[in-house]
Amino acid sequence: MDNKNLIIIIDFGSQYTQLIARRIREKNVFSEIFPHTNAINKIKELKPKGVILSGGPMSVFEEDSPQISKEVFELGIPILGICYGMQIITAAFGGKIELAKDREYGKAEFKITNENKIFDKIEKSSTVWMSHGAFISEAPVGFEITGTSENSPICSFANFEKNFFGLQFHPEVMHSTQGKKILDNFIFNICGCEADWTPENFIESNVKKIKEMVGNDKAICALSGGVDSSVAAILVEKALGDNLICVHVDTGMMRKNESAEIIKMFKDTYNLNIIHIDASEIFLKRLEGVTEPEKKRKIIGNTFIEVFEEEAKKHGDIKYLIQGTLYPDVIESVSVKGQSVTIKTHHNVGGLPEKMNMKLIEPFRLLFKDEVRNIGKELKLPDEFVKRHPFPGPGLAVRVLGDITKERLDVLREADAIYIDEIKKAGIYDEIWQAFAVLLPVQSVGVMGDARTYENVCALRAVTSTDGMTADWYKFDYSILEKASNRIIRSVPGINRVCYDVSSKPPATIEWE
Ligand code: XMP
Repeated sequence: MDNKNLIIIIDFGSQYTQLIARRIREKNVFSEIFPHTNAINKIKELKPKGVILSGGPMSVFEEDSPQISKEVFELGIPILGICYGMQIITAAFGGKIELAKDREYGKAEFKITNENKIFDKIEKSSTVWMSHGAFISEAPVGFEITGTSENSPICSFANFEKNFFGLQFHPEVMHSTQGKKILDNFIFNICGCEADWTPENFIESNVKKIKEMVGNDKAICALSGGVDSSVAAILVEKALGDNLICVHVDTGMMRKNESAEIIKMFKDTYNLNIIHIDASEIFLKRLEGVTEPEKKRKIIGNTFIEVFEEEAKKHGDIKYLIQGTLYPDVIESVSVKGQSVTIKTHHNVGGLPEKMNMKLIEPFRLLFKDEVRNIGKELKLPDEFVKRHPFPGPGLAVRVLGDITKERLDVLREADAIYIDEIKKAGIYDEIWQAFAVLLPVQSVGVMGDARTYENVCALRAVTSTDGMTADWYKFDYSILEKASNRIIRSVPGINRVCYDVSSKPPATIEWE
């Protein structure tokens, strides 16, 4: 896709930077995020129609606060500075910034004092979301004050001649009720973008690109049945036909009937060149006696690579490997507060490029998950696949806590299938980010008929989330849990007690291991 209608977002480390990009793309305008450290080169190279300076956790007068070359203000490109980004503009044009007595965080009332293009059709007074520790006490030279709030007398400003704008609040956050419209005004009224970032255009240009790149060579793809690999396989098949070899590895850690359904769908409906490898025995053998979660992940990751490589070798000279990598995995995030610790190694089990000596094709490198879903819809992938909850690469291995055996996996598969069935019947599957059952290495006493039982405990988990980074437990109607619990205990031998997990992330994580 050429970048005629591109907005570049310069990241200064705000937790909302990705949200800005998503808001713009929701309007079918392409946007890309670059860290402040190399953004100026990207802007000169890609010539966007507009630039947005993101927020950030620091204030411009703090030592080592992130900066951008002043050249950005000399390129004739419209600029919108949000929060920290507004401070960057202020400092560049000789305005004054002061430390606030208290950090302003949360909702505030914003009042427009100067009608102009960026506030076109915006309510004069609206709620906005603030998060800042410094405020602008003197507008920069050449800028007019265009809006105020109680704690920010200069809450927005503009230089109409240069098309530079500043907002103290975060328009990208949902709590800013007029925020989306303000961003729309910036990208369309001020930058003059056209809405050409659509799934149809994406598919067309990528099919063409992949055809040109691969020619008559072969490519291989690990098809797990998750949204990303499924959509990638269908897209690439449009470009390469039978020269795309899809390999589905059944690790034995899949959900009930999952592998069979995947093979059937992609063979029958999409006519993909797909190979089904049942490697469950080798995975189970290597996991015997392993209870430590990170060890489980490593064994599964390494075994997967081995099995996949062995299959690849059978097909002669394959030059390309398809991966469903997403944008959030490739954005170089600006780490203002140092490295974060590893909680879980989320190596994608499909992620095996280093050893394989193949060139990578990652059609979704620049896409967010919801955009991949839209492409899946456009490619007519059934909802059941497009809207499927995320599933971890190591599969049920991290949901059977403690020892993994075929019997315990089967018990969990049955319970999980019933739970998901009840959720689907209740019509709430799409409200939930992820729902699943977990088998605990704990036994409890129960009574069935007149007999004492001493069986396993099963935990049910359901969370809401937008990206899996944070999550809240789903507030079920009790009757749904009641039905799921009754059915599980009655019909799954080996489980006599069901619990519901009411932990949010943080401090818990979504998966139990
Ligand atoms: P946690 O448990 O860290 O999970 O809150 C966040 C999201 O990541 C998924 N997850 C994994 N995905 N390999 C994966 O490919 C893994 O090892 C793994 N562990 C967790 C989890 O299902 C959730 O969507």
